Amino acid sequence: MKARIAVLGGDGIGPEVVAEAVRVLQAVAQRHGHELALTPALFGGAAIDAHGDGLPPATLELCRGADAVLLGAIGGPRWSSPDAQLRPETALLRLRRELGVYANLRPVTVHAALRNASPLKAGVVDGVDFIFVRELTGGIYFGEKRRSETEATDVCTYSVTEVERITRTAGALARARRKRIVSIDKSNVLETSRLWRAVATRVVAEEFPDIALEHMLVDAAAMHLIRRPRDFDVLLTENMFGDILTDEASMLAGSLGVLPSASLGAASRGLYEPIHGSAPDIAGRGIANPIGTILSAALLLRHSLGLEAEAVAIEAAVSTALTDGARTADILGPGEKALTTREMGQRVLDALRDPR
Ligand code: IPM
Ligand code: MG
Repeated sequence: MKARIAVLGGDGIGPEVVAEAVRVLQAVAQRHGHELALTPALFGGAAIDAHGDGLPPATLELCRGADAVLLGAIGGPRWSSPDAQLRPETALLRLRRELGVYANLRPVTVHAALRNASPLKAGVVDGVDFIFVRELTGGIYFGEKRRSETEATDVCTYSVTEVERITRTAGALARARRKRIVSIDKSNVLETSRLWRAVATRVVAEEFPDIALEHMLVDAAAMHLIRRPRDFDVLLTENMFGDILTDEASMLAGSLGVLPSASLGAASRGLYEPIHGSAPDIAGRGIANPIGTILSAALLLRHSLGLEAEAVAIEAAVSTALTDGARTADILGPGEKALTTREMGQRVLDALRDPR
């Protein structure tokens, strides 16, 4: 098949990890006879520096015209002073909104070879396999913001339609999995959460009667994710709770560096990015873990291009590399030697060329 992919490296370690995912995509395309046109564009802080706009019109047009967007990470101290006028984060929120990708899927699985990389006991994290469905284009991130000398306000709004569609995403995913949704809210305090709970309950009852729905308050969810992470299947959350809980959940997998994400909307075009940030502290050193981005490329093939076998091939190659002891600094065990970003990418490429 032929597909157009916009490639936004972004800032910090973003371009380094994206380069490895691009190599993997090219290798898969070559092997399976696909023609992928991968076109890079400036985004985030890099675009602010070059064009005074974190999401320049040319970049947005490229993304709109693409079948999928592969993104690294954005941001850094250079653009984050408290009174900064232009923020890379704002560009990311705009891009998500412009592309209409309201459903952010963040799968969390614990690879057996990384069971000791987690700060939690191996016995707690063994066999963890769940997926967050995070609402991505609503809530407090997008509400009105006001600031005066003495006060600041961020408004949190959710519409029935927004909760319905994200609940449907969770329902469809749960159906293909273990048929269990935990919907997370703060309905003992927030009105938006009471709406969320009511709408999720109705949609599941009417459209997904085969799915078991449980509601959990966000504070309790933060605790249960650590206490009994194996019990979760699909976790449905609003925007900010999902942001916070997925960073927490990444510690089950051993590192923020290994988790991918897919952001989907009504169309097949999606935005794919690792859940980690631009890690300015290690940027430019070539030591970042590219696995989260490589696995995001696999999600891209699966969800936007419908290439399931190719996606599985990448996931299997990552798994082989990890089983064979390939480690970047963030997942290093005692006595193990750290690979560079490029070397880790190469180990995945080698496994891809020589599958088991
Ligand atoms: C994420 C990030 C972003 C978010 C930031 C960079 C705006 O933390 O994708 O999890 O909060 O959504
Ligand atoms: Mg985050």
